[in-house]
Amino acid sequence: MQRTLILLKPDCVQRRLMGQIISRFEAKGLNFVAMKLLQITPELAKQHYAEHVEKGWYPTLEEFITGGPVLAGVLEGLEAVQVVRDMLGATSGLKAAPGTIRGDFSSSRQMNLVHGSDGEEAAAREIGLYFKPEELVANTPTITPWIR
Ligand code: TYD
Ligand code: MG
Repeated sequence: MQRTLILLKPDCVQRRLMGQIISRFEAKGLNFVAMKLLQITPELAKQHYAEHVEKGWYPTLEEFITGGPVLAGVLEGLEAVQVVRDMLGATSGLKAAPGTIRGDFSSSRQMNLVHGSDGEEAAAREIGLYFKPEELVANTPTITPWIR
């Protein structure tokens, strides 16, 4: 089992696409083990995108990612890191294949709706930026679902 961090970015929240995108992750068989709505500060943005802070396009990325609330979540599943990356598609919505989240909903190189950690090390680091250990639940119910 792996865990990975996702962010439903400000464009996703503003466009009211959260439900549809959460549905895709659920339908795939991934389990949420944490979820919260928050506002990313410039400080958190610089930590999250540490590898990109020096890029010429970073200032506009920071303006975008801090420009409205995001939904942060931790997904758990077999090979969750790569499975989520594959579901997102290429970085630019203009290049992402149809059938992927970015390919189906985004026509922007920057406003691409969803972030997913790009490796196991990144996932561990990013989960730590958004969640305390006690905020991660064990999503393995022992009760019989729905029927009592
Ligand atoms: P990157 O880590 O390359 O993409 P990914 O999200 O697929 O891992 O870049 C981080 C985010 O930065 C990306 O989701 C969108 C934004 N971005 C730009 O705004 N301009 C750019 O030229 C690139 C490459 C990315
Ligand atoms: Mg990346």
